[in-house]
Amino acid sequence: MVYVFSLGGSVILNETGEYNNEYIIQFRHFLKNIEGRKIIVVGGGKKARDRISKSGTKNNFENDVIGIKSAYENAQYLSNIIGLPCIKMDMDAIENLPESFVTSGVFPGLTTDSVAVLLAEKFGAPFFNITNVDGIFTKDPKKYKDAQFLKSVKIDHAIEIASLADKRKAGTHVFLDIFSLLMIKRSGIKTIICSNNLENLSNLIHNSKGKCTEIK
Ligand code: UTP
Repeated sequence: MVYVFSLGGSVILNETGEYNNEYIIQFRHFLKNIEGRKIIVVGGGKKARDRISKSGTKNNFENDVIGIKSAYENAQYLSNIIGLPCIKMDMDAIENLPESFVTSGVFPGLTTDSVAVLLAEKFGAPFFNITNVDGIFTKDPKKYKDAQFLKSVKIDHAIEIASLADKRKAGTHVFLDIFSLLMIKRSGIKTIICSNNLENLSNLIHNSKGKCTEIK
């Protein structure tokens, strides 16, 4: 069995931009209890956003490059602690991938989520998007108290919501970008969006029970 996890930068970095070491160590234990091949794609989080906002350029390509480098630094950091190799993804690397590994961004215009979705497509694996909310809500739950939680969302509806929000601007964030959603649709990739709660994630993996939004 292969599992692909997209680990948001907001999960491994705290609000001040420092690594959440306690969580990373817990994540290492969590991975040890999962049988099979594990692929972890790490996001840029606050580190990427701060650097992009201070970059002094409005050129999206250049800012995406800054985002990719920031996410790669996060991936290297995680890889050192959890003891899995960190892979810089390109067409050569993709033909010689180790059993389990950590990676991050690839090319401007994409996101680390889209890299994770493509790897899930390659391996016919489920894709777990680990983020700082429980899943998809009708509105931003941090801003609106009446936001309702959605246990499942149809892929076409997800594409509709994302097309209103996804401006493909460097450092911006939607629950999943349009490209990722189109890849999920073309290959019917099993997609789970869930919080960073590792007990919940473990339940989702071992007995398909736990809080999450499934995109169907
Ligand atoms: P991510 O978007 O994937 O990290 O990469 P994030 O927004 O911090 O995601 P979460 O919140 O951790 O889940 C950060 C930025 O790096 C660029 C984009 O500008 C993106 O917003 N990037 C990343 C790319 O251009 N290409 C990639 O393949 C990955």
